[in-house]
Amino acid sequence: MIFIVDFGSQTTHLIARRIKELGAEVKIVTSQEILGPVQNDNHIKGIILSGGPASVYQKGAPAVDPKIFEQGIPILGICYGLQLMARLLGGKVVSGRKEYGPAIIKFKIQNSKFKITEDLPKSLVVWMSHGDEVVKLPKGFETIGSTEHVPFAFVGNLKRKIFGLQFHPEVEHTQHGLQILKNFIGICDLETGLKVQDKFKIQNLKFKIREIVGEKEYVIGAVSGGVDSTVAAVLTAKAVGKRFIPIYVENGLMREGTKEHVKKIFAKFHSKPIVVNVVGEMVRRLKGVSDPEKKRKIIGSFYIEIFEREMKKLIRSGKKVQFLLQGTIYSDVIESKGTKHASKIKSHHNVGGLPKKMKLKLLEPLRHFYKDEVREIGKQLSLPDEFIHKQPFPGPGYAIRIRGEVTKERLKKEKRADRIVLEELEKAGVLNSIFQSFPVLTGAYSTAVKGDGRLFGEVVALRVLESKDIMTSKWSRLPYEVLQRISSRIVNEVPGISRVVYDITTKPPATMEWE
Ligand code: XMP
Repeated sequence: MIFIVDFGSQTTHLIARRIKELGAEVKIVTSQEILGPVQNDNHIKGIILSGGPASVYQKGAPAVDPKIFEQGIPILGICYGLQLMARLLGGKVVSGRKEYGPAIIKFKIQNSKFKITEDLPKSLVVWMSHGDEVVKLPKGFETIGSTEHVPFAFVGNLKRKIFGLQFHPEVEHTQHGLQILKNFIGICDLETGLKVQDKFKIQNLKFKIREIVGEKEYVIGAVSGGVDSTVAAVLTAKAVGKRFIPIYVENGLMREGTKEHVKKIFAKFHSKPIVVNVVGEMVRRLKGVSDPEKKRKIIGSFYIEIFEREMKKLIRSGKKVQFLLQGTIYSDVIESKGTKHASKIKSHHNVGGLPKKMKLKLLEPLRHFYKDEVREIGKQLSLPDEFIHKQPFPGPGYAIRIRGEVTKERLKKEKRADRIVLEELEKAGVLNSIFQSFPVLTGAYSTAVKGDGRLFGEVVALRVLESKDIMTSKWSRLPYEVLQRISSRIVNEVPGISRVVYDITTKPPATMEWE
C-alpha cells in the first residue's frame, strides 16, 4: 500500500480518496509513524508527503526522519511535502513566495523519460496553494515542469524515484491530476483500476449506523433540506426505522420554501419532521454580533440547546433518545481543524461551532465523505434528482452571508437579493449547472445616483461557483447579459443597495462563503 504522511493539509484525506479511487490501498500516518513501517514493513510500496500550513524552517514545523529517503521506496512530495524533501536533501526553500489558484505548467522533459509524466499533455492547468517555494534543487534532481512563477513546479530524481510537485494533483481543478497520481502508483509497482468501493454500499453504511445506535435507542436528526442532512437522514431511517425522528429548526436564516421542501422529502418516506420555530429568538441572539466565528458558535450552540430540549420532551414520552444525527461531511471537518497539523479555516457550525459539553451523542455517518460522494450515495438511495442536486446552503444560513450584524431589515434585503439571483439564473437556464450561487451583503458602502438623488448605500457581492467536492472552486463564467440583469434588478428592487460587484476569486485562496 501507499502511506501518506500528513502534515496538516486541507487535502490529505482527498489524496487518500484519489489513491483509493485509482484502486490502490492507502493509509494516512503521522510523521512519527512513518519510520517504523519504512524500515520493517514490506507492504509499503510508496510514500506521499502531504502539503501543510507550516513553513519548513519554522520552529516546530513537522518533519520526517531523512532515513525514509534511503530505502529505495518511491516518494512523492506535494507542496509542503516537496519543500520538506528539498530541505532535508540539501536544496533550499524561501518563504513568502505565494501563489494561490490556477497556474499553467509546461513540461520540459520528454514524456518518455519520466514515467511520472506518462499520458500527460505538454501543458496543464494546475492548482496552487503555497506560501513558500523551492529555489534550489537537491543534488540528483531535475526539473520536469515549470509555471510562469515557479521554476521547480514539478521535479524529480529519476534514479531514486523521488518526485515533488508544488501544485496539488488531488484537487478537482488540476487537469490530469489523477493521471499524475496514477503514474506514481505505477512507479510504486501497484496495480491501478477503478474499483466500486465498499464504502458506497448502502448495506455497509446502514450496518455501521445500527452498530452505533444499538437496538433500543432513538436518534433525533437535524434536517435542513440540504443534500447532506437528507442523505444522512434517509440512511438512518433505513437503518433504525421509526427510531429516527427528524427535526427541522425554522430559524429565519434559511431560504424561502425550505420548510415545505423538508416536509415534502420526509413525506416521501412516510415521516413527518418535528418543526421548531425560533425565528424571533434567533435574531435576538445574533443582536450586536458581527464576528463570523462568534455567529457560528452562537448558532451551533443554539441548535444544540433546541435539540436537547426536544430530546427531553421525547424522553418524557417514553422514547429513549441518545443520539443527534448531523449531516456533517469531510469538508466541514477539515476546515474546522480536523487533523493534528491542520489550520482552522472556520468553525463550521456543526463541528467547531458546537458547545464543549453536550448531552446528545453525535451520529455522523457521512463524516468521511465529500459532497459529490454524498450525492452518489443519495443516488443509490433512489432519492429524486431535485433533492440530490440542490445547491449547498450553509447551516448558519444567511447569517454568514451578511457581513456584520444580522438584523431583520438586512435579512429581508439578503433574502430579496437571493431570490432575484435564483430567478435570473433559472430564467437564463443555467441554474442547474451551477454548484452554488448567492449574494453577500458586504457591509461596504458606496455612492450611487438614483433618480437624480444621492444614495450612499450598501454594496452587494455576487458569488456564483463551480465545484464538485467543495475543496476547490472556480467562479462561473456567466454571460454578461445575465450578470447585467441580476445587477439591475438588485439595485432597482432591493432598498438601500448602491452597487453590485461580481466575485471572481477562486478557492483557494478565497473560501466560498465570505465569512
Ligand atoms: P467555504 O466557505 O468554507 O464553504 O468554502 C464550503 C461549503 O460549506 C458551506 N458552509 C457551511 N456549511 N456549516 C455548514 O453546514 C457552516 O458553518 C458552513 N460554512 C460554510 C458553504 O456554503 C460551502 O458550500
